[in-house]
Amino acid sequence: SSQKYFATAGTSLPQTIRQLLARPESSQPLHPVEVSGWVKSVRRQKNVTFAVISDGSWAPGMQAVLSNTNIPKNLTNGASVRLGGTLVKSLGAGQAQELRVDTVDVLGDCDPETYPIQKQALSVEYLRENAHLRPRTDAVASMLRLRSELHRAVHGFFEGQDFTHVHTPILTSSDCEGAGETFRVVPNTAQSTLPEGDAQEEFFSKPAYLTVSSQLHLEALASSLSRVYTLSPCFRAERSQTSRHLAEFWMLEAEWAFTRSVDDVCDLVEACLKGVLARITPDSSLPWSDGRLRSLLNAGQYDAWARMTYTDAVAELERHHASSRAFEFEPKWGRSLQSEHERWLSESFIGGPVFVTDYPASLKPFYMRLNDDRKTVACFDLLIPHVGELVGGSLREERLDYLVASMKTHGLDEEEYKWYTDLRRFGSAPHGGFGMGFERLVSWLSGIENVRECIAMPRWAKRMLL
Ligand code: 4AD
Repeated sequence: SSQKYFATAGTSLPQTIRQLLARPESSQPLHPVEVSGWVKSVRRQKNVTFAVISDGSWAPGMQAVLSNTNIPKNLTNGASVRLGGTLVKSLGAGQAQELRVDTVDVLGDCDPETYPIQKQALSVEYLRENAHLRPRTDAVASMLRLRSELHRAVHGFFEGQDFTHVHTPILTSSDCEGAGETFRVVPNTAQSTLPEGDAQEEFFSKPAYLTVSSQLHLEALASSLSRVYTLSPCFRAERSQTSRHLAEFWMLEAEWAFTRSVDDVCDLVEACLKGVLARITPDSSLPWSDGRLRSLLNAGQYDAWARMTYTDAVAELERHHASSRAFEFEPKWGRSLQSEHERWLSESFIGGPVFVTDYPASLKPFYMRLNDDRKTVACFDLLIPHVGELVGGSLREERLDYLVASMKTHGLDEEEYKWYTDLRRFGSAPHGGFGMGFERLVSWLSGIENVRECIAMPRWAKRMLL
């Protein structure tokens, strides 16, 4: 019968160290297991040798006990191995079980002299230079597991709110934020087989850029599906070299129709972050975030977060500056908040997350909804202690005449954005949304200070090693 041509359901993957250690101990005795991974350390004692093996599934790895007669010379740090043996109760402190090894296969040698990932503390800059190998450090591997867990938590939250997960284009014709930080995309003419004239032509017949934000496309999709979100890469030719900026980063963006006020958008952001926090298990495979997550969960993070208008924030900053001369940049209505101002607001004045709302229209992009005062827009930035701005969002201008006027003020070509204004011509609905930097979220939850350590292979100006 044709049946034999179909594979059986499920997988034939061997169990990871995490899965093996999660099995109840009673099912283990003398059951032969196979463990594959990389050697983290080798400690030779009088009669036996202890090696820690990691396959990345579980931060502490697994302790393997080998008889000294059974140690290949090339069992060194960094080597990849396949071990056969049995799981037994561990006599050592700190772990319940260890692997008593019967067979050792070194699959890939690793010269301990030249291996760049040595056991002593390695500087952050040295690890950046070795971006291809730094995932093998415990800290970067833990960060990657946290990212994965956050990804799951974010999707769990939005599913629960009946949002549709959508995919938006990376190649775009517009600069959503209007900040002039786009990367232009052109075909590589050196490799083109087209006649030179054709190869020089705009590939898409108009200039193309890497997206800086999915928002405008999300607005089109929210005009049909009501509630949409995406987690997608964004690109900004950002020249400032700060601990919070990357040239390629991931942004969680949500957009939904039938909002009533900017408070609605803040409510969703707050619920999303609290929901994500609640979905993460502070497990021991995230050594540095364990205590931190617990304290975030306990230290009043479940109280309502503070909200204040930009106008009130500037008044407080002015008051503080008048008495202390604390700031390098003088705070003044109509000027951007500098990071020293944002830090003071969230770290000292509020002492926790704070939504700052209703900034002057002149400081913000063209799409934000004008307030009745005709000076400010219905928007917010969420400021987080030690991270700064984690989220930005707004109500979008749904009134065609206001939008067109704002585009004029911002010097945008109406024809180029016709598709966008069409959304206001045909069944325009009040709507709003937000964008959250995924690396800044990782930074907040993990305590890792620089976003360059919150993504596996960071890109910033003058730096793209692999
Ligand atoms: O405030 P931004 O520029 O807002 C937007 O792009 C909106 N269109 C989003 C929306 O409403 N759908 O960026 C949103 C967030 C920031 O708060 C920050 O967390 C992150 O994106 N971000 C960056 N993260 C890392 N590197 C950069 N260069 C970033 N620029 C922004």
